[in-house]
Amino acid sequence: MPPALTAEVIRDVNTRYHDAAAQRYDAKWGIDFGEVGRAQVLAKMRKALGHAPRRYARSLEIGAGTGYFSLNLLGEGIVGEATCSDISPGMLSALNDNARRLGLRVQSALVDAERLPFADASFDLVLGHAVLHHIPDLASAFAEFERVLSPDGTLVFAGEPSRYGDHLAELPKRAHTLEGVVDVHSFAPAELARAAEQAGLREVRVTGEELLANWFGWISRTLEASAEPDDVPWAWRQYAHRGYLLLQQLDHRLLEPHLPAAIFYNLMISARKGPAYAGPAHPPRRRQGPTGRRT
Ligand SMILES: C[S@@+](CC[C@H](N)C(=O)[O-])C[C@H]1O[C@@H](n2cnc3c(N)ncnc32)[C@H](O)[C@@H]1O
Repeated sequence: MPPALTAEVIRDVNTRYHDAAAQRYDAKWGIDFGEVGRAQVLAKMRKALGHAPRRYARSLEIGAGTGYFSLNLLGEGIVGEATCSDISPGMLSALNDNARRLGLRVQSALVDAERLPFADASFDLVLGHAVLHHIPDLASAFAEFERVLSPDGTLVFAGEPSRYGDHLAELPKRAHTLEGVVDVHSFAPAELARAAEQAGLREVRVTGEELLANWFGWISRTLEASAEPDDVPWAWRQYAHRGYLLLQQLDHRLLEPHLPAAIFYNLMISARKGPAYAGPAHPPRRRQGPTGRRT
């Protein structure tokens, strides 16, 4: 966490930064709620879990933003009832607009990840994308995630910056100085795993994703940052988006299966709430080490 800033200030800046970003957020990040977006989100779930996601009756998304994960998972039928939470009213308003446009029903909740106003064991899936690195007190947040998970519940978070990815992002971040304030963590795989384990979660698995795609993405973004948003030509946005998707496929097929998690731009974590491993009567724990090599 930046040393001079209190947790309260970080939450406040996060709220205001994301409120201001909400209306242009989907266009800026190429967020899609059609076939492409659903395929991306499913692929991320599969990578994080190490297997295809099952169906989850009740999900809670933390830092849901405009709905990238929850709306696409609802559209795919992976979740039954989706609760989408965020600290930013602007993001929740954009999310509700997206849900309405797509004809999907969601519950939205203005909530700080460290203080969840939900009963114990309320959700079968607690998930998030690109949110953990904004949360000042990760230990409190993970304790809350564990508390609201049902006894056999699943946790999945993706899109969290690795240390390496954070260095790569430094240049464009200088162009957006507030990002240096709202982004309070980057992670080594073992640190992310420890946060889940210390909250009592089991079968913790940390993997890495995206390398080439993010070099390309950050270079494109740095160039875009040097222009007024309305002056960036549509053809450039199309080129940048298609290039990113192509390199994402190369990362996925060639690099992610073979290289350690720490060198990737993003980390993803999955874990389960459940009874402790109690001997040979139970299946062996499938914990993946900090190298994040997928089996
Ligand atoms: C980088 S955005 C990601 C949004 C969305 N998950 C996505 O992938 O498009 C991070 C989101 O986390 C939210 N956020 C930041 N700090 C939070 C906190 N302490 N509790 C809950 N949400 C928070 C922000 O308002 C923002 O919507």
